[in-house]
Amino acid sequence: MIDENLQELYQEIILDHNSRPRNYRAIEACTHKADGNNPVCGDEVTIFLIVKDNIVKDVSFQGEGCAISKASSSLMTKKVMGKTVNEARKIILDVNKILTGNNDQEIDLDESGDLAALAGVRKFPARIKCATLAWHTLDAALDGNTVISTE
Ligand code: FES
Repeated sequence: MIDENLQELYQEIILDHNSRPRNYRAIEACTHKADGNNPVCGDEVTIFLIVKDNIVKDVSFQGEGCAISKASSSLMTKKVMGKTVNEARKIILDVNKILTGNNDQEIDLDESGDLAALAGVRKFPARIKCATLAWHTLDAALDGNTVISTE
């Protein structure tokens, strides 16, 4: 169970990333790119990547979405920047676990860092797709797919 102080901290992290999204820009010379959309609301995100020597040298996003989707995209760019492709894949799996685990499941705060802030959406099943959109789209971009829907 996540205590109330942590919930407040998590909320602050989400609000901060929503109002000051990190890496919100296009990368013209990207090597990978994918568009994702949340069919529930029609919101869209585009993820841009530069992958060289199997390392995510640069990652960015653009799009229209709610606070949760924007914060999730922003957190995503911070987390995978500079990682190897395999590390990025592992992070995607870990986040998926955070977002779809049940409410009582323990979260390793040291390992998850700010990403644990996304765990708050577990209580709102309708919003989970808002939070997973960036990560599914990142996965698709790494796969070389260009357009995905989270449906
Ligand atoms: Fe559209 Fe959250 S309401 S992505």
